[in-house]
Amino acid sequence: MELKVNGTVRHIKSAPSTPLLWVLRDELDLKGTKFGCGISECGCCTVLVDGEPVNSCVTPVGDVRGEVLTIEGLGAPDAPHPVQQAWLQHNVVQCGYCQPGQLLAAAALLRHNPDPDRAAIDAALQGHLCRCGTYPRIRAAIATAARLQQQPRTTGSAPFAGEEVR
Ligand code: FES
Repeated sequence: MELKVNGTVRHIKSAPSTPLLWVLRDELDLKGTKFGCGISECGCCTVLVDGEPVNSCVTPVGDVRGEVLTIEGLGAPDAPHPVQQAWLQHNVVQCGYCQPGQLLAAAALLRHNPDPDRAAIDAALQGHLCRCGTYPRIRAAIATAARLQQQPRTTGSAPFAGEEVR
């Protein structure tokens, strides 16, 4: 079967019943997508399919209809996505294990809702666990990303210190 991943059509040899997570990691060598719980409870394995968050650990690759976006395809080194810029400004990452899923969920949220309030952010991220407890920084970074998305800034600009979340 063929699968479009991060803008490129890939030929997939894995059986259709293989979870998308293992196709991405083991067949396509895209290691940014993480294995967490394996039962769709933690959000570590989140990728986007046609812009919508999907738990790749429980999604057979044969059931995927649409283009897959992984963390490797979210931005480019010289053109990071607003959520990636905001994550850096707020020093969100601790161990980092959950962050690819958190970033993709945040990007999907901002695509649908360019100015999310606290309730919308919490709803979008509720399926994403962070054992390091970075939730306050994630919320603040999403608020910053929303502003960056509306008013693009360079990565070298001053951080939005003390960003408030409504
Ligand atoms: Fe460590 Fe979230 S940063 S699990």
